[in-house]
Amino acid sequence: MKPPATRPSIVGAPSPESPYPVRLRGTVTHGFKRGSRDLGFPTANLPDDVSNNEATVLQIGVHYGWASVGRSATVWPMVMSYGWNPTYKNTKKTAEVHIMNVFESDFYGEELRIVVLGFIRPEYEYSSLDALIADIKTDIEVAQRSLERPAYHRFIEDPFVLDKSAQL
Ligand SMILES: Cc1cc2nc3c(=O)[nH]c(=O)nc-3n(C[C@H](O)[C@H](O)[C@H](O)COP(=O)(O)O)c2cc1C
Repeated sequence: MKPPATRPSIVGAPSPESPYPVRLRGTVTHGFKRGSRDLGFPTANLPDDVSNNEATVLQIGVHYGWASVGRSATVWPMVMSYGWNPTYKNTKKTAEVHIMNVFESDFYGEELRIVVLGFIRPEYEYSSLDALIADIKTDIEVAQRSLERPAYHRFIEDPFVLDKSAQL
């Protein structure tokens, strides 16, 4: 599927609707390494068993929500690409999370926890890297605006992402 020319600036119902909120966690695994090199948007992949099991309640595409990493008590906004990345013709379904914060190092081996709250768009096959980069920038802006709504913002204090001892 090709990307549309125009996009909404805010997405999702006034408050999260089924199947959201979807809470996922896992140890950060290695991606295919294009994230930071080609795109400028580092992503942390959730483990395959999460993308093939708990995550399957989500439709394929780009989602938004909140994330925490390791033992840090800070919760950041995130966008997640869930699917096969048709631009790269991946044969494996991945759940790649981009956290909207600049980190000094990667966090392979650390626990990533996310609460997914809404759907942004399907995944598209881009004819250029620049077009994919432009749409990821838009995804980030759409996620930030969508998360400002109180019914979404309150999940920044979700016990699952905040409390490292909380169980699924
Ligand atoms: C917010 C976001 C949206 C994305 N949307 C698409 C998409 O629509 N189509 C696509 O082929 N890849 C999409 N990607 C995935 C990139 O292709 C992917 O991050 C890149 O292949 C890097 O993966 P790697 O770090 O695992 O190598 C998206 C990535 C992010 C972070």
